[in-house]
Amino acid sequence: MQTRHDARHTTQTLTAPEWWRTAVIYQIYPRSFADASGDGVGDLRGITRRLDDLADLGVDALWLSPFMVSPQKDAGYDVADYCDVDPLFGTLADFDEMLAAAHAREIRIIVDLVPNHSSDQHPWFQEALRAAPGSAERARYIFRDGRGPGGDQPPTNWDSIFGGPAWTRVTEEDGSPGQWYLHLFDSSQPDFNWENEEVREEFRRILRFWLDRGVDGFRVDVAHGMVKDPSFPDWSPNPEAASMGGDSAPAPYWEQPGVHEIYRDWHRLLAEYDGDRALCGEAWVSTIEKTALWVRPDEMHQTFNFHYLETPWEPAALRRIIDDSLRAFGAVGAPSTWVLSNHDVVRHATRLGLTAENPQGTGIGPDFPGLPEPQHALRRARAATALMLALPGSAYLYQGEELGLPEVLDIPDEARQDPTWFRTRGERYGRDGCRVPIPWESDAPAAGFSSSGRSWLPQPEGWGTFARDCQRDDAGSTLSLYRRLLEVRRAHGLGEGTLRWLDPGELPGVAEGQSEDVLALSNQDVVVLANFGATPIPLPPGRHVLASSTELVAESGAPDREDRAPLLPQDAVVWLVSPENVPLI
Ligand code: NOJ
Repeated sequence: MQTRHDARHTTQTLTAPEWWRTAVIYQIYPRSFADASGDGVGDLRGITRRLDDLADLGVDALWLSPFMVSPQKDAGYDVADYCDVDPLFGTLADFDEMLAAAHAREIRIIVDLVPNHSSDQHPWFQEALRAAPGSAERARYIFRDGRGPGGDQPPTNWDSIFGGPAWTRVTEEDGSPGQWYLHLFDSSQPDFNWENEEVREEFRRILRFWLDRGVDGFRVDVAHGMVKDPSFPDWSPNPEAASMGGDSAPAPYWEQPGVHEIYRDWHRLLAEYDGDRALCGEAWVSTIEKTALWVRPDEMHQTFNFHYLETPWEPAALRRIIDDSLRAFGAVGAPSTWVLSNHDVVRHATRLGLTAENPQGTGIGPDFPGLPEPQHALRRARAATALMLALPGSAYLYQGEELGLPEVLDIPDEARQDPTWFRTRGERYGRDGCRVPIPWESDAPAAGFSSSGRSWLPQPEGWGTFARDCQRDDAGSTLSLYRRLLEVRRAHGLGEGTLRWLDPGELPGVAEGQSEDVLALSNQDVVVLANFGATPIPLPPGRHVLASSTELVAESGAPDREDRAPLLPQDAVVWLVSPENVPLI
């Protein structure tokens, strides 16, 4: 078997073509990763200091959530200057240093691009507010006259994703009540008008700015929403399926065909650069087949597979979505991606143990019905990760999941920051629970996040027990599991492999009726078994265990029998290899 070091040089050097097809990409949420300045908010120098830990984990690339100039009304997804670093996070020089240090470790850097909307503090929006209705300044955003007498009703009935109306009325320069502007998110995030060539040209400039600095790609925010239905019709969501675009009859601001021309344009622009720079779309699209339209050969390179993220921990549902994903993305020549957690959803070390519905972005708090027992949910999360990382394609990890971090439920109301919490007057918790600064050292102030002990969201009691330093040398820790899975994934080329389902009914020792609780697959020379059922299943004889999401249990019976097969318990996944490469079935 190759060592990890050798494998890195054969499969994932910085010159590897189309690296994004198989890459494991680690999401850094800069506010909450590592704070070098001591102000309680993570920063770029903090990231640079911790790069060795990420190299040790074995990831291929980092995606950084926004660190550009922003009043931070939506944690940086409200950008006031796309081509500079917010002083909260450092300087452009800090960025260049971080990028060079990452590249020196053969880790690529993807930055977040937020093209659907800017901050209301962006100079263009400030100019638009001062300009007259119908002016060129207003035409960069979506301003409309209101309806009803005096224009005092919003132009459409659309709701903001964060709650409340999606339109806000401005006061004109002369003090009179004026036009309305569209903001699909917070009122501090006015939507750009992508029908306007000036907007398109400005974003080409922004892309070039970061490409010239050497970034390897972009994660594109709200990639399903930049173009709106030009007739601006009223629309009522289907309450059963309402989520960020996850509705079978898409809203007039999601999935509009006009978005694709933008990505074709950007694809051509990226292709002018060396090194296979990549675009990854954050597109919450209603079906997996439609999602694949975002990654046609001349559009984006990847898109997040949120359909996978939203699939419950059930064997039949997982098998279906895995097949559908490989089929849909394969049909357009794109890799499938896989993801279980990010900064917008309940962490999967909690979510997979929930029994009640929790629509995406709503968040959970201490009063949420049926909260899981933490160890049970973590066990499932580890199994889910082991299944995900066995799949061919590219996978995304969210900072802290490698530590097994749960969602934080008991953030005091006065400490909450998500605009969702404010716009719904506390009815929806929002996403703060997955954004709490991560622990590094068990005994340090702020668990090693910040030497000053400050933390922009409070860390809960006991957070230090998840710290990296206590997990590093513990073979049974979640960190050790992730490290091992990534090492084996690389050494066995699972990212570029092919999935083949195996019939669990034919596995030796799997009883009749038990097979529907089991998923069995092979990828390259690795066989993966996942047991969802209460009855442990015996591992096939003659296999070597490469990785296991949990400790295997011993077969009951005569304790002195040497040939006792280890058993795979419930909610566990094991990766096996046959020393002689003998097919399993
Ligand atoms: C999606 C981002 O992931 C989320 O955090 C943000 O609030 C919205 N887009 C608006 O930019």
